[in-house]
Amino acid sequence: MSVRKIGIVTGGGDCPGLNAVIRGTVKVGLNRYGWEILGIEDACMGLIDPSYRSPHGNRLMTRDLIRDILPRGGTILGTSSRSDPFRFVAEGSSSEEDVSDRLLQNFRDLGLDALISIGGDGSMAIAQRLFEKGIPLVGVPKTIDNDLGATDQTFGFDTAVQTATEALDRIHDTARSHDRVMLVEVMGRDAGWIALHAGIAGGAHAILIPEIPYRAEVLTREIRQRRVQGQPYSVIVVAEGARPVDGEQSVAGQVLGGMPQLAGAAQRVASSLQAQVDGDVRVTVLGHLQRGGSPSSFDRILATRFGHHAAELVAAEDFGKMVALRGSEIVSVPIAEAIGIHKAVAPQSQLVRTARAVGISFGDAI
Ligand code: F6P
Repeated sequence: MSVRKIGIVTGGGDCPGLNAVIRGTVKVGLNRYGWEILGIEDACMGLIDPSYRSPHGNRLMTRDLIRDILPRGGTILGTSSRSDPFRFVAEGSSSEEDVSDRLLQNFRDLGLDALISIGGDGSMAIAQRLFEKGIPLVGVPKTIDNDLGATDQTFGFDTAVQTATEALDRIHDTARSHDRVMLVEVMGRDAGWIALHAGIAGGAHAILIPEIPYRAEVLTREIRQRRVQGQPYSVIVVAEGARPVDGEQSVAGQVLGGMPQLAGAAQRVASSLQAQVDGDVRVTVLGHLQRGGSPSSFDRILATRFGHHAAELVAAEDFGKMVALRGSEIVSVPIAEAIGIHKAVAPQSQLVRTARAVGISFGDAI
């Protein structure tokens, strides 16, 4: 089989650098291989129903479409966290159905020879199942959470850390001026990478992450101690997945066809602290500010390299693989091996030890 027409799709949450991957792949596909490249609208939606949002849905990618998208956040193809073809929830429905056979038929009817799927762990799990069903497929990992074990880093993470760090710099100003305890909640799901990196870069006094459950009484003692030592303010980074030693993560609700929504972790810490410490305790939730915005130069470069290498894997018909960063090199790994390898912060890692060495608390000391 020689590849003539491919599809490209972005799934899961948006993430800075998605457009850079699309641009990298499309440039290599058009310039080097002369492929037709169909941009699929809103994750799998455009494959489950090719008339979805027509005439503004699926579109053949041209040089015009990718012009100037390198610095743009989001994804020009759109995305959806609810288009898992194996657990599809139709508009207005409250139950899940398997529409993967329909998707496969549409893939063939559209004349596609291969698919490049850009997404997080959920999208890669779907990609593997579609590959097993017969779709020649290559994966590109993305997530601001940086929690995929098969790659040293995902694009989007560096930008999210930069955004959170800038927010911490601003929060410091108010904390110091008003002698307040300021809690900043960051994303990351079950991993504390964004909190750890932004907390160190942003000079936080404490960092609470899922991997190191905290004790509110330890934080109380440390905040009081800082006050006695003439530092009557504290800045604390709270990962959305952080939890106390005797409790579970704070979950806002279960999204149908999606993952449980984490929310309220910082507010919960604030409620424990407010009555115990002098001065105001305030919460700032950064939320989706961390997902948008122009990708950092690091993320633009990593995403461009991923886009290029994904196209090369398709050209070599080396399917069922995912591109990954190992050291300074882009490699490929079987998607089947890559999915489900969650990368958490190791509590004894060098970076955690460095944070502790410079006086950052994780709220876990006795
Ligand atoms: O996985 C990326 C991420 O931004 C997580 O950090 C966060 O928990 C989740 O997605 C939020 O997803 P949604 O935008 O669907 O609420």
